[in-house]
Amino acid sequence: MSEYVKVANDGGIAVITIDNPPVNALSLHLREPLFAALEAARDDDAVEGIVIASAGRTFISGADITEFGSPKALASPSLPDLCALLETLKKPAVAAIHGTALGGGLELALSCHYRVADKQAKVGLPEVKLGLLPGSGGTVRLPRLIGPEAALKMIVSGNPIGSAQALAAGVVDAIAEGDLTAEAVAFAKTKAKDGGAHIPVRDRDEKLEAARADLAAFDAAVKELTKKARGLEAPLACADSVRNAITLPFDEALAKEREFFIKLVQGDQSRAQRHLFFAEREAAKVPGIGKDVQPREIRKVGVIGAGTMGGGIAMSFVNGGVPVTVLEMTDEALDRGFATIEKNYAISVARGSLKEDEKAARLARFSRTTNYSDLADCDLIIEAVFEEMSVKKDVFGKLEKIAKPGAILATNTSYLDVNEIAASTGRPQDVVGLHFFSPANVMKLLEIVRGDRTAPDVLLTALTVGRRIGKVPVVVGVCHGFVGNRMLGARGDDLEPLLLEGASPEQVDRVFTDFGFPMGPFAMWDLAGLDIGWRTRKALGTTAIIGDAVCEMGRFGQKTGKGIYLYEEGSRTPKPDPEIARLIEEKARERGIERREITDREIIERTLYPMVNEGVRILEEKIAARASDIDIVWTNGYGFPIGKGGPMFWADLEGLGTLVERLDHWHGKTGKAVFEPAPLLRRLAAEKGKLATQTA
Ligand code: NAI
Repeated sequence: MSEYVKVANDGGIAVITIDNPPVNALSLHLREPLFAALEAARDDDAVEGIVIASAGRTFISGADITEFGSPKALASPSLPDLCALLETLKKPAVAAIHGTALGGGLELALSCHYRVADKQAKVGLPEVKLGLLPGSGGTVRLPRLIGPEAALKMIVSGNPIGSAQALAAGVVDAIAEGDLTAEAVAFAKTKAKDGGAHIPVRDRDEKLEAARADLAAFDAAVKELTKKARGLEAPLACADSVRNAITLPFDEALAKEREFFIKLVQGDQSRAQRHLFFAEREAAKVPGIGKDVQPREIRKVGVIGAGTMGGGIAMSFVNGGVPVTVLEMTDEALDRGFATIEKNYAISVARGSLKEDEKAARLARFSRTTNYSDLADCDLIIEAVFEEMSVKKDVFGKLEKIAKPGAILATNTSYLDVNEIAASTGRPQDVVGLHFFSPANVMKLLEIVRGDRTAPDVLLTALTVGRRIGKVPVVVGVCHGFVGNRMLGARGDDLEPLLLEGASPEQVDRVFTDFGFPMGPFAMWDLAGLDIGWRTRKALGTTAIIGDAVCEMGRFGQKTGKGIYLYEEGSRTPKPDPEIARLIEEKARERGIERREITDREIIERTLYPMVNEGVRILEEKIAARASDIDIVWTNGYGFPIGKGGPMFWADLEGLGTLVERLDHWHGKTGKAVFEPAPLLRRLAAEKGKLATQTA
């Protein structure tokens, strides 16, 4: 008996109950008494069968990831030791699953002879999301239970399945209708009484035979399922390991799986993904919000503006079950906005990701109006009107008059000063920035912009409602462009000089996609529309050499079929255009710039290094509370590759000394402020400190 494992005998069945709050993770202090309890049950003649159950809200939710990288993780008894012991038992072992059996938790259950789950239970192998593969037999046991292709799908996606689906697939053997432990005990008794041999999963081979006969079909499934791996090693390792389960004897496949696991767990990609896993949880903790603060209730939302962003924001809330009233200036604008919303839902239905009746239910949650008084009962009102201070102030002036007391007034501005907007109202404590990303119904990131006077409960409400609608919220401070767009500006600052000095748009974009971004900056310009920046520059009286010239040629990007690249009719694939190559050469000649070969390395140094540098300044100015928040912004909103952990984590991998040295070099050459190393970066480099763990 121990604090973490209790054993009771229920009519000949040893009921071993795990109790390691909060989620029964497989820490060493749990594995030790669990192993001992299993050995005792094995050796006790009065025990005919075993049930492994768990106290609290869930079965074992996985390995203890705080042990990763420490000797504790592999210390004996390890999870593989526990699994091996279970498989040698002559008495039936039954896992009683409630809550979730994830990762190592499911692997332990797969090493039992049988699994009984309650109706709400979920099972899954999410290791791939941490850059890993299931390392304790998951990839070799699950295929034996449910077939290699179905197993591969679960392992490569990392998504859990519910108990009904688990029963149909064969992951679990029975679903408990009433008391889970009692029914698992009854199940074990029946099996014990049977007197038959209890065949461990390792010895069940039937489901592998079809795959052995047709490996080509399995390989085709692998190709399809790993298509989106984008440079990540873990999904490929998962697939290799499941393939080994088909082609190699059990013990060899198991040993190989362990090898893959150890290689991945020690690699940078998994470290990066684990960093992001913790970073997302950290981001939920916001300095200055005490335990006594309660979120305000959000039952109804108003959205002002039904353009690109307003429509997507409204969809996000409606999809999360919150009714939304959309306000526009005219009925025509509302018609246009709703036509786009309906088209988006129709696409989801056509793709099979949304059912027709659910589409109807969602559309029924929208109301439309041109009259501000219809927003009087909204608990949260978000404006997504034109990016102009005078327009925003006009809208907030109207909102102040009609919004009920305590309603939260939010702006989706990309750059404007949230404090100035707040100060223009009589209730600055209720004003907050809610910066969504385009397309807002898809993108996960939500920058919550905290004004000087934003009330703590308003911030907490924004975080709570953000998570409720499936976003990843990050609280940021007020500055031009907040965290994401401000760093994006620094990343793009030297792009035109790079072109003029000899790089081509396609080279730059290739360097970015090789790095792991879904697209490069020039393809991004074309997607967003070059005219937006052009108009802003005109308003500000600034210029861009290439950007302006391209717009003057009437090339605004994908929407006009031409921008930095050419787009064939109906295609979104950028094709290099000799006309643009000539334009760049001509502009370089006009300025007496001698063109030379630009290396890929130089492109990284002149784009991503200043971007990191800007992130460090953001930290120095306390615009972000911690470096890891910046990594969450960039991986969720800007396509920064998760295998590199975000810009701050990646900077540590590059070496802060290297960054400072190269930034100094480019600063010396160009005199540009974006290259001047931030003092904190210099200090950390000198002290051999780490950036990703810094707090502001
Ligand atoms: P948009 O031009 O597509 O839509 C703006 C809509 O607001 C139009 O439908 C217009 O009729 C309506 N509108 C303008 N003034 C209004 C008023 N006084 N009352 C009611 N409706 C009014 O613009 P978009 O792209 O949706 O941008 C909206 C806001 O979101 C801007 O502040 C922008 O900076 C911000 N934003 C834009 C992103 C993007 O990728 N487009 C990303 C994140 C933020």
